[in-house]
Amino acid sequence: MIAAELRDLLPADPVPGHAVEWIPADEPLPSGDHYVAIVPLLSRWIGGQQLKQLLGLKIVANCAVGVDNVDLVSCQMGKVRVTNTPGVLTESTADLTWSLILQVARRTKEGERLVAGGAWAGWHPTQLLGLELDGATLGLVGAGRIGQAVGRRAIGFGLRLLYAARSRKDDFEAATGAKRVDLPKLLAQSDIVTLHAPSTPETKGFINRERLAQMKDGAILINTARGDLVREPALLEALESGRLAGAGLDVFADEPTVNPALVAHPRVVCLPHLGSATVKTRTAMAQLAVANVNAVLGGGQPITPVF
Ligand code: GLV
Repeated sequence: MIAAELRDLLPADPVPGHAVEWIPADEPLPSGDHYVAIVPLLSRWIGGQQLKQLLGLKIVANCAVGVDNVDLVSCQMGKVRVTNTPGVLTESTADLTWSLILQVARRTKEGERLVAGGAWAGWHPTQLLGLELDGATLGLVGAGRIGQAVGRRAIGFGLRLLYAARSRKDDFEAATGAKRVDLPKLLAQSDIVTLHAPSTPETKGFINRERLAQMKDGAILINTARGDLVREPALLEALESGRLAGAGLDVFADEPTVNPALVAHPRVVCLPHLGSATVKTRTAMAQLAVANVNAVLGGGQPITPVF
């Protein structure tokens, strides 16, 4: 079973020797013990219930780097391999993160609204003054592939780099001058905080009211990781009180529903989970997911295993 939405990104016979069923995202999964592999989108929950109806399944090849849509415990118990698509989406996601950083720091949403609404009365020396990146501090929460790629791009903008991560990244520090600090210090010192951690039981909701209160006055929060890392009501409070200057969000707690107060907020830029949305990356993701299926069905090891 492959998500039907991936069809145009894949060759005509993506899993040679096996019949493929293309399942649209809005249709329920069929059941049957003859299914050996599934390539789902990140919007499809693969849980214990689904696995019970697919007892012949050998692999869940998620077409995403995040695997929070897959019940890993049930897969492990059922001896079903799980793979993801790391690496191929690093640069595109880092680019999109930078698009949000620039838009929020320089208040382009408000500027665009001013022009589009016909309310712009001409150049004014104190109109829509934003955050100058040169000399400001960028804090990376998580410094895996994507966090580091975001950090590398910061050098060209003259930003000082902090990161919070479980382990020290020596090569990254040597290449960028980034400094590892604990999360409270990062929140207290960063003008821009950008999230690059997976959604796990430890990280879910960890950007809560207390952590938002530790951020610098006038700071910016960027999230291109997973929506449920942030408690959205607490974020809205921090924005509405003026404590935070703005937010750039590509991911939301309850996608595709987006809190209308975030959408309407002049200093919040909301995007529809576009992080990896380039032709090159989405093609590579679909092909890597299917390559994992072919490797496992061929009796070999998956290329990018979660386990
Ligand atoms: C996108 O969000 C992904 O996990 O690949």
